[in-house]
Amino acid sequence: MPSLCLFGAQWGDEGKGKIIDHLARDVDYVVRYQGGANAGHTIVIDGAKFVLHLIPSGVLHEGRINVIGGGVALDPAALVEELDGLAAENIHVGPDNLRISARAHVIFDYHRGWDALAERLRGVQKIGTTGRGIGPAYADKAARSGLRVADLLDERRLRAALEGNLAEKNVLREAAGEAALDVDQLVQGCRALAERLAPFVGDVGAELRDAYAVGKSILFEAAQGAMLDIDHGTYPFVTSSNTGVGGIPNGAGFPPQHLDRALGIAKAYCTRVGEGPFPTEDTGAVGERLREAGHEYGATTGRPRRCGWLDMVALRYALELNGAEGWVLTNLDVLTGFEKIPVGMAYSRRGERLERYPAHWPDLEDLEVEYRELPGWEEDLRAARRFEDLPAAAQAYVTFLEEASGRPIRMISVGPGRDEVIHR
Ligand code: GDP
Ligand code: IMO
Ligand code: MG
Repeated sequence: MPSLCLFGAQWGDEGKGKIIDHLARDVDYVVRYQGGANAGHTIVIDGAKFVLHLIPSGVLHEGRINVIGGGVALDPAALVEELDGLAAENIHVGPDNLRISARAHVIFDYHRGWDALAERLRGVQKIGTTGRGIGPAYADKAARSGLRVADLLDERRLRAALEGNLAEKNVLREAAGEAALDVDQLVQGCRALAERLAPFVGDVGAELRDAYAVGKSILFEAAQGAMLDIDHGTYPFVTSSNTGVGGIPNGAGFPPQHLDRALGIAKAYCTRVGEGPFPTEDTGAVGERLREAGHEYGATTGRPRRCGWLDMVALRYALELNGAEGWVLTNLDVLTGFEKIPVGMAYSRRGERLERYPAHWPDLEDLEVEYRELPGWEEDLRAARRFEDLPAAAQAYVTFLEEASGRPIRMISVGPGRDEVIHR
């Protein structure tokens, strides 16, 4: 397929990094089109672990072109740190294999500060953000107070724009008891970052459209998950971008008619970091056991992830919403040793089935989940490379999920390693 999107079909951390790296061996371009350094995409190669936040997960293969699209909220300091981290591991990243859109909005320190302040002010209604300044940067973009990578490279324009923006920001900061921001200091702080990033910057949308026209293959790497989508997720407990296929046209400058295929990705159970409804969450011993078995701690913030069983209602919604042709099932190995595996099959309220995914988040906290229990297995799955290598109960679990989702499971991941994958 010339163009493919892999999107998270749960609340993030489904294993996108691992699967993108796996698929990247056969593509020309890997493209991030939304989100920012709130993402943490883990790739494990021969036991060495890499966590990518902004740089696409094709970077560990030689010869792929990795693209940061204009829809990404780009924190230049975080990007430089990531570049340095990869250089220290002898991973080559240069203008030949990384492109950055001139249209991407820039995250400044004050966005991070504002993110923290907004969370504090929300009190018990906090979202549990990653603190990376994502919401405030996208808010500035929509308010037309944002600065883009192109501005970062044009010091005169940067200074003029900051003078206008900071006047407004300082009024709010002073009211909140925060120190006023200084334009000179900010401009100076940007100088080294701008110099460092300048060689990577260009019109990436034009490059992707040209590449598609001559038959190159393009893999779109979503960040976060469908249930964190700003429009279709569990608002307001979401991130500030469109995390599914809907983010691609605007976030990459790529016409929607040219997206050939979309695959969702979901764990064999479910996790969520931060606040917000999670109907199949297990807050007791079982959730704890899943967390330990799956090492479920955030790749970006280190926070323990909330754990529970697979939510087929949310998964079906995510796959349908994004027109997924099929999906990828990850972390199947983590379920080894669980005697019974419940799957959330339907939501109901006061005896009535909900036919559609509720739009209003409080409704998600006022419902019962109907579960179906499947038998577990004892065998370690990590050496399995063909479907037939899996124990009968694991095969039955996969087949059950496939039928319940109404879409084929195209790949099964049985460990964090690059090649711990079963193709079907
Ligand atoms: P992403 O944000 O979707 O890229 O996912 P994260 O990297 O945040 O979290 C996924 C975690 O699961 C990482 O620690 C991966 O190394 C790990 N992982 C990915 N696939 C598998 C799998 O099939 N089995 C196990 N045990 N771990 C996996
Ligand atoms: P990847 O790409 C899991 C969550 C945060 C919080 C909410 C809003 O690794 O799957 P934000 O900082 O975006 O304003 O936080 O979204 N969140 C993620 N959860 N995986 C992620 O990314 C996430 N990025 C943001 O925990 O609940
Ligand atoms: Mg992650």
